[in-house]
Amino acid sequence: MAVDLSIELGALRLKNPVLVASGTYGWGQQYRDLLDPNLLGGLITKAVTQHPREGNSPPRIVETSCGLLNSIGLANVGVKAFIREKLPFLQSLKTTVIVNVAGSTPEEYAEVARQLEGYPGIDALEINISCPNVREGGLAFGSDPKAALRVLSTVRRTTKRFLIAKLSPNVTDIVAIAESAVDAGVEAISLINTLVGMAIDVPRQRPRLSTVLGGLSGPAIKPVALAMVWKVAQKIDLPIIGVGGIMTAQDAMEFFLAGASAVEVGTANFVDPQTPLKIIRGLEEACVQQGLKRIRQLVGKMVIETDTNI
Ligand SMILES: Cc1cc2nc3c(=O)[nH]c(=O)nc-3n(C[C@H](O)[C@H](O)[C@H](O)COP(=O)(O)O)c2cc1C
Repeated sequence: MAVDLSIELGALRLKNPVLVASGTYGWGQQYRDLLDPNLLGGLITKAVTQHPREGNSPPRIVETSCGLLNSIGLANVGVKAFIREKLPFLQSLKTTVIVNVAGSTPEEYAEVARQLEGYPGIDALEINISCPNVREGGLAFGSDPKAALRVLSTVRRTTKRFLIAKLSPNVTDIVAIAESAVDAGVEAISLINTLVGMAIDVPRQRPRLSTVLGGLSGPAIKPVALAMVWKVAQKIDLPIIGVGGIMTAQDAMEFFLAGASAVEVGTANFVDPQTPLKIIRGLEEACVQQGLKRIRQLVGKMVIETDTNI
């Protein structure tokens, strides 16, 4: 039985529901010998900012017992060099290309969107209002519903492109931020970015990251991500892309059942760059086993038998 893995995020059609997460797949080119990017449901670039950024000083990535801590700080070439040097490769791909956009002010975000206007080969922008590793912007926008509304509305006025708001888990009420995204007029929501965390080198009595705090990703955050996807899916009528700790097809299926229409694979790419492909194949096999013709039949299908009172 052929399984239909394609999904629709509103007007955006993906050939399968597995994307690679921003910051974990470079600009695509670096990974092409390890995994054919055309097999992916979509590729999300590193964050692009208006000006080039060096990012934070090392050490800016450390492994912990349950996941990865990073404080890269949005290191990137800036939008002009992105268009000149990175976009041509992305334009040659036969898969969905999504550019992750970041900034320190709403105007900076909008300026990146403006400069990307008109270039073919970009299917959507993922607006990163959730980076915990920069002093200004990022998380400040993602943790306050009014600030989220301001930055997303400013970008919305600048472009007609398909917009995805990427939310932070470092908030008290994720639904309130998601509601701001709806009010701003974005087409989809992705969640979650990393959770604020830290690690200490005991013999040296020093933080293991130069910035002390960083963003935790990997298996440790999957239950948090799932809970947030589920909470948002209960209240918000926009397609959701789930991300956080996805290592296997079973992990991805949990996100579909919780209400996500697609998933992003992040930290798992560092463990095994073939992970997204293994997940795609695993989803196909799981659908055959369960007699499902289409992967989208799983979306939001978790059954709750008791009264949750949540
Ligand atoms: C090294 C690293 C760099 C990242 N850079 C970005 C980024 O530039 N923009 C962004 O929105 N998210 C970034 N993220 C967050 C991931 O896209 C993803 O949301 C997060 O890691 C959770 O997924 P995971 O547990 O599968 O890694 C980064 C994550 C890591 C580990």
